[in-house]
Amino acid sequence: MTVVSVINYKGGVGKTTVTANLGADLAARGRKVLLIDLDPQASLTYSFYRPADFVEQPTIRSWFEAFVATREPEPLFKYVLAPPAVNAVVQPLGGHLHLVASQLGLVDVDLDLAAGLGGSRFQRSSPRYLQVYRLLADALAEQNFAGYEVVLVDCPPNFNLVTRTALVASDGIIVPARADYLSTLGIDLLRTRLSALVDEYNEVAERPINPEILGVVYTMVQYTSSGPLLTQRTSVETTSVIEMPVFRQTIRDNKSAMTEAGQRSIPAVLAPQGSPAIETLRYEIQQLTSELLALIRP
Ligand SMILES: Nc1ncnc2c1ncn2[C@@H]1O[C@H](COP(=O)(O)OP(=O)(O)OP(=O)(O)O)[C@@H](O)[C@H]1O
Ligand SMILES: [Mg+2]
Repeated sequence: MTVVSVINYKGGVGKTTVTANLGADLAARGRKVLLIDLDPQASLTYSFYRPADFVEQPTIRSWFEAFVATREPEPLFKYVLAPPAVNAVVQPLGGHLHLVASQLGLVDVDLDLAAGLGGSRFQRSSPRYLQVYRLLADALAEQNFAGYEVVLVDCPPNFNLVTRTALVASDGIIVPARADYLSTLGIDLLRTRLSALVDEYNEVAERPINPEILGVVYTMVQYTSSGPLLTQRTSVETTSVIEMPVFRQTIRDNKSAMTEAGQRSIPAVLAPQGSPAIETLRYEIQQLTSELLALIRP
């Protein structure tokens, strides 16, 4: 099983869109996929369920809350859902896509978890540091999860404790970003914080972690008739200056594909034969999936 977190500090850069579409494409290629929505905005969850169809379902918020209340994690497997619309498409192809959903209010969990470790500072000296930081890693190590080949975690746009549990559990990290100069700086900061987390954790832990940045995915790239906008090409090149791996495939700015797909509870990559906008997005996502598979080989 390979666990990959999709993360960027910046909001609205396409993290959730990339997670949902990669997950759907992997499942359509016959892979057993688990997606975890760690964002209190729950946009990943609502990529697979219409709000009216998503009532009284278990969510990761309750899972974390139960831990805060009892200090004993419940089996995460009880929280796994199988969204019906997308599975109707991928199961005949031999895969499946399961989801641990999210819910508003997960933000409070972040504060409660940090408080249990003595606030945001000096956490490492808490005897419960490893238990809390390893919450997700240990939950996914249960036998019930052994059947999944790829786990993709959609992170919220922050570096809070819940996000850090995802990074500790991860083998790889994908960083969706917009192709502008400020975003490039943000990516460098993310890398710095990630390596600080890894160092801090490894000083305490018996088994070291080493999540690898698989690459930056440039999203919402604007094209003119002669290719990507010049300013955006420049920032893609800047990424190589800060020495970050970059996925060759970029995702275009493609509002019509998003709007067309938005109604269906199925990511755009699995939309029926459609407009040129849908076909462009499908091609881009499929290329991205192939690059990802070459990197992780589950
Ligand atoms: N390639 C694209 N072209 C046009 N619009 C896009 C594209 N990718 C995503 N969007 C739209 O941009 C918005 C933000 O995308 P998304 O939710 O995937 O970003 P995010 O990084 O997960 O945001 P957040 O930080 O809020 O979780 C959504 O409305 C989405 O439909
Ligand atoms: Mg999101």
